[in-house]
Amino acid sequence: MQIGLSYDLKQALNPVSGGPDDALEEYDSPETVEAITNALTQAGHTVYRLGGGKEFLRRVQEQKLDLVFNIAEGLGNYRSREAQIPGILEMLDIPYTGSDPQTLAVCLDKPLTKKLVADAGIKTARWQLVTSCEELSAIDWSGFPLPAFLKPACEGSSKGVRFASRAGSAKEIVSMAAELLTAYEQPVLIEEFISGEEITVGVTGNIQPKVLGIMRVVPKTKTDYFVYSVEVKRNWRQMVEYEVPAALPAETLSRIEKATLDAYKVLGCRDLCRMDFRVSPDGTPYFLEVNPLPGLNPVSGDLPIMASKLGISHAELVLKILDTALARHSLTAANCLP
Ligand SMILES: Nc1ncnc2c1ncn2[C@@H]1O[C@H](COP(=O)(O)OP(=O)(O)O)[C@@H](O)[C@H]1O
Ligand SMILES: [Mg+2]
Repeated sequence: MQIGLSYDLKQALNPVSGGPDDALEEYDSPETVEAITNALTQAGHTVYRLGGGKEFLRRVQEQKLDLVFNIAEGLGNYRSREAQIPGILEMLDIPYTGSDPQTLAVCLDKPLTKKLVADAGIKTARWQLVTSCEELSAIDWSGFPLPAFLKPACEGSSKGVRFASRAGSAKEIVSMAAELLTAYEQPVLIEEFISGEEITVGVTGNIQPKVLGIMRVVPKTKTDYFVYSVEVKRNWRQMVEYEVPAALPAETLSRIEKATLDAYKVLGCRDLCRMDFRVSPDGTPYFLEVNPLPGLNPVSGDLPIMASKLGISHAELVLKILDTALARHSLTAANCLP
């Protein structure tokens, strides 16, 4: 098959001067593009590297593509940036892997996603959204559960999430939220801090999606307030261990699995996703967020790490995503031949 690969490389982008040091955290590395290209090529496909942005616009129409393998994060400080490439592919009527623009746009908006999953009966930490400093100071924080946790409302890869993102008082909430509003130029999500296990779940499939694995992220140094922050993600070898399957009671695992599959369905995810939870000491999974475009770095991506611990190589994971998308489109190599 003729497969396009859409991606946004960190190297191709210029950080805004004076912006936060994790401004480009979401974007991909050449290593990821190389590994996906190799997996697809070795399976007999021809891969066209489309990149992202204007380069993508030029290249996507240069040859007939049967499908695009999409990992592009999209550009700009927009909450629907992940929908940009799939939106164009829909306009051109080119099949692609992963969720559609609507799901991608909703899922990058954490508070909107929380509303949808909460409405479906899935537990999520109590939250408050603030969109401006005026709104922030007008809110009475005295009843908000402490400690609280603060993060930018529409980001990923722990952008804006630090060890110190926990507020112990109403005063701290206000000062930390004001800083985040300014630094990340977007609304801030303030949540009740959920102590407990850090869990991430891989899912693949469509009509009957399946949990690929449930992984526990275990800090090497015990702490009551572990945060899978940008510092940890950058330094994961030193700071955490990944446990697959998560050594939790069977009943807790089945609660996590149910919450995951329910959320996958209600959010309209397709082909794959990675979903994050915190599990409180009483075994309740609290939905944090979903990544319908999970990182696929062969070494550091959470989903590839989970897969490798399950005996699934990076190449096998890539082909599983491809096969799932092809089955959804009812495309096969045979009927794509000229
Ligand atoms: N309400 C919360 N309580 C405790 N920790 C949280 C909470 N929200 C986020 N975190 C921590 O911050 C990390 C990143 O938050 P998450 O919502 O998954 O954003 P991202 O899209 O950046 O991965 C989580 O994996 C978790 O460790
Ligand atoms: Mg996360």
